Amino acid sequence: MLRYNGSMKPPLARGEAPGKIILFGEHAVVYGRPAIAAPVTQVRARAEIFPAATCTVEAVDLHRRVEVARAPADDPFARMVRLVCQALDVPLPPWRIVVTSEIPIAAGLGSGAAISAAIGRAMLAAFAADMPLAELSALVYEVEKLHHGTPSGIDNTVVVYERPVWFVRGQPPEPFAVARPIHLLIADTGIPSPTKIAVGDVRRAWEQDPARLEALFDKVGDIARQARAAIEAGDIAALGPLMDANQALLAQMGVSSPELDRLIQAARRAGALGAKLSGAGRGGNMIALVTEETAAQVAMALRAASARRVLSTTIGPANPS
Ligand code: MEV
Repeated sequence: MLRYNGSMKPPLARGEAPGKIILFGEHAVVYGRPAIAAPVTQVRARAEIFPAATCTVEAVDLHRRVEVARAPADDPFARMVRLVCQALDVPLPPWRIVVTSEIPIAAGLGSGAAISAAIGRAMLAAFAADMPLAELSALVYEVEKLHHGTPSGIDNTVVVYERPVWFVRGQPPEPFAVARPIHLLIADTGIPSPTKIAVGDVRRAWEQDPARLEALFDKVGDIARQARAAIEAGDIAALGPLMDANQALLAQMGVSSPELDRLIQAARRAGALGAKLSGAGRGGNMIALVTEETAAQVAMALRAASARRVLSTTIGPANPS
């Protein structure tokens, strides 16, 4: 876990936000198809606010200290602070905002969005201000645009709403019923993969052959619709083949990688009901659908196949994370 080595005084305020996984529909969601995502509360980004002479953001683990008034317009930390101040119509406050995160960077788990959301939440708490979730999500979305030019908005939505969402670009997120728990393992290839690069490569492929890519996106959209119906009906077993079919389409888009393929194959061979990459792909994390009975053996197989870290999470009626 990342550590803060700063002041012993208690913070004025704190904020936090979870990581996220995309269950179905990444990349196609940028082009208007539906996607399903869920928060991962086992890993979180946190922000703490201390009184100071000027407004700074410090990310100790990233070795970054940003003085907000002097930071360039495209600095994500400074952008989030400025956006919150503009929304509340207040000047930059004399605060030291200290950011820590357990969410690996460039790993498909929404670390950028979670850090922005944590900064926003801490600032709102320090100002004793209320802001609707839709508005906070919209501010985080503005920062997401700095990370890659054409975000769908799914990452900011799921980390701010902190519940499973059915997401279509440009529309408010739809919460939906998860009839039975969905047990997942999340395994990290350990290979950082900035979203911007994978999204840019898919964009170039789409520009070169729009008909082929649109057909792939349509199939992914159909899979997301079938998955929603299965989740609402509690037909968890049906999700496995849908995850495998989604993974095959992501591979055709060119966003899988040998390391992801190795983990996905290892999970399937060890008894996972289905497996796919989650997020932008190329590196980062994959997810495997397991049962309580198969979770341990699949986790062991993922570690044997060189997973850097294996997390276990459950999306379900009793535990929405
Ligand atoms: C990244 O978590 C998901 C992508 O679909 C990009 C986006 O939706 O903005 C790859």
